[in-house]
Amino acid sequence: MLKVNENYLKLPGSYLFSAIGKKVSAYGAAHPEKRIIRLGIGDVTQPLVPAVTEALHGAVEEMGKAETFRGYAPDLGYEFLRRAIAEGDYKALGCDIAEDEIFVSDGAKCDSGNIQEIFALDNRVAVCDPVYPVYVDSNVMAGRAGTYDSKREVWSNILYMPCTEDNGFVPELPREVPDLIYLCFPNNPTGSAVTRAQLQEWVDYANKVGAVILYDAAYEAYISESDVPHSIYECEGARTCAIELRSFSKNAGFTGLRLGFTVVPKELERGGTALHSLWARRHGTKYNGAPYIVQRAGEAVYSKAGREQLKEQIDYYKKNAAYILHGLREAGYKVYGGVNSPYVWLKTPKGMSSWEFFDCLLENVNVVGTPGSGFGPSGEGYFRLTAFGSYENTVEAVDRMKVLSL
Ligand SMILES: Cc1ncc(COP(=O)(O)O)c(C=O)c1O
Repeated sequence: MLKVNENYLKLPGSYLFSAIGKKVSAYGAAHPEKRIIRLGIGDVTQPLVPAVTEALHGAVEEMGKAETFRGYAPDLGYEFLRRAIAEGDYKALGCDIAEDEIFVSDGAKCDSGNIQEIFALDNRVAVCDPVYPVYVDSNVMAGRAGTYDSKREVWSNILYMPCTEDNGFVPELPREVPDLIYLCFPNNPTGSAVTRAQLQEWVDYANKVGAVILYDAAYEAYISESDVPHSIYECEGARTCAIELRSFSKNAGFTGLRLGFTVVPKELERGGTALHSLWARRHGTKYNGAPYIVQRAGEAVYSKAGREQLKEQIDYYKKNAAYILHGLREAGYKVYGGVNSPYVWLKTPKGMSSWEFFDCLLENVNVVGTPGSGFGPSGEGYFRLTAFGSYENTVEAVDRMKVLSL
């Protein structure tokens, strides 16, 4: 008899965003006169910049003419985009990444979920706690996570690395040696960043113990401080221990357009096998490429006009983050992140749980954020606000939060 993949049945329901949605709809229905401001979602709101829409229009015209029509894209992605990435994202930082080490995809969510496929099931996975849930859930689906402890909200085979106020939301090296280490900096959800020296420690550690770091740099465009690396390949030795995942979603507003890429250096080998060749095989077998028009739009992100326009867009969100950070700090909240990140992570006041604070904000000032406990046990007692709303809504939400007595 056919059997389903029972690992899927082990997954607890994706409770977080549906619970938020239900609470917000119920409150809105009961209080139709109230204007609810949402600073909970991780989706952008500003439109695509003109350099990108012009590239899209141009590529659509090309697709409509026999002489310039394109069918399936090359496996790794078009050379024009990989060249722009290698030069714009890596050579510019002094990182030695070749065009054929870049695999273009339709986003970092898929890549961060799929990358675990090239590793054996008995590898030990380490994640930050709190964490972007895709890293954990994709390992659960594969059968690598063990059993779920619903009380502690942890998986038996996953190593959780707590990120708390005490360690500045940057994990310490784990006591047990992992095989695969997921790191995301600037971090979702805490908004924390690592310095180049801190990341170098992780690279040295991974090289020493033979682990592989899966480095998610989806938010690198928000980095403001000069000692925070944009890429793990700024660290010496990263080419022999790290895979980097990148996205066009938050640096160029492509959440709906879909584009990302993964870098697998050719020197990265384990057990005598080059991970580049495994990922190339996986990519070539299961994926048929991001659309030509979207890859042309991605190329435009690196053009002079694209860079200038996108700097303005990122600065807009960064201004929101700064307003949240400073406004709430002045009002007496304990607030973190927001400097190298569009996320602000605040400690819930008066010892409230993450969900108690969610209800308190919704009911008293009609502001919606995301309870930190939804990202892992160490997120309890914290709350995430995002800078992706409009400036006007951000200012109003923060000003409303200021009047809550803490
Ligand atoms: C840490 C992190 N990685 C990856 C993604 C997904 O990026 P993409 O839109 O490219 O799939 C997100 C989206 O919120 C994210 O927070």
